[in-house]
Amino acid sequence: MRNPEIKEWGMLAKQCALGAGKLIEEMLAHPLEVMYKSSASDLVTSVDRAVEQLVIDKIMKAYPDHGILGEEGLIACKPDEFDTVWMVDPIDGTTNFVHQQQNYCISIAVYHKGVCEVGVVYDPTREEMFYAERGGGAFLNDEPLQVKRNKEMKEALLSTSLFWNRRAMKSGLSEKMQHLAHRSRGIRVYGVAALELAYVAAGRLDAYISLNLNPWDYGAGRLLVEEAGCMISALDGTDLPFAERSSILAANPNLYNFLLEFLMERPL
Ligand code: IPD
Ligand code: CA
Ligand code: CA
Ligand code: CA
Repeated sequence: MRNPEIKEWGMLAKQCALGAGKLIEEMLAHPLEVMYKSSASDLVTSVDRAVEQLVIDKIMKAYPDHGILGEEGLIACKPDEFDTVWMVDPIDGTTNFVHQQQNYCISIAVYHKGVCEVGVVYDPTREEMFYAERGGGAFLNDEPLQVKRNKEMKEALLSTSLFWNRRAMKSGLSEKMQHLAHRSRGIRVYGVAALELAYVAAGRLDAYISLNLNPWDYGAGRLLVEEAGCMISALDGTDLPFAERSSILAANPNLYNFLLEFLMERPL
């Protein structure tokens, strides 16, 4: 029998995302405080931290015995020590947020015993709430999402972030992406992994390919993708891990096997 708590977790995750959206709007009325993390292209703002704190407070109030893994690390958590773990990216696409104040999202996933049960990706600028429950389908603003199964490569729109990744350049992966650009309708680079996964679920993109994503980047998007009828794995075809970094291949079911083989076979 399905755990009746899953619905409640899902409702709270959506409330957290909506609350985050409101807080972001309020904070954007004042100048943004932008800080460097490891480099000038690795940013964090006062808004990322305030949103993470807001979400932590809401989760802790409702479920003090749950674990939380947030990108900005405002709460310490060893995921293996908790049955239920929330993975929170307070702002996915911080660089877009700083430069454009759009093309970013809030991503919240709830894992139980290592399995993702709830995924929420919310784009406050467009007021788009992507939601999935394991076995319960994927939705965009309450409209069910189910991708078409007859997609062909020549009519596919792809998305990635790995062209300039050093490992991808060395291994020939980024060269392969260039070939894929010619076999498909083209490649987009949006810089907001969780939303790109949500777009694969919505059929706005037909595949998303990335290296080195953190668990809060793909935690919610993976369930959206699966529940919308797409396939997702690490780039070598193995299952996505729990609470660890991973590469990602998410694709329309008709394209997944071709992409996996093409990307994994020996360098061109
Ligand atoms: C980043 C974005 C980006 C991806 C990076 C992530 P952040 O997340 O999702 O698209 O390529 O790997 O770190 O730092 O903006 O939350
Ligand atoms: Ca970041
Ligand atoms: Ca992120
Ligand atoms: Ca982030």
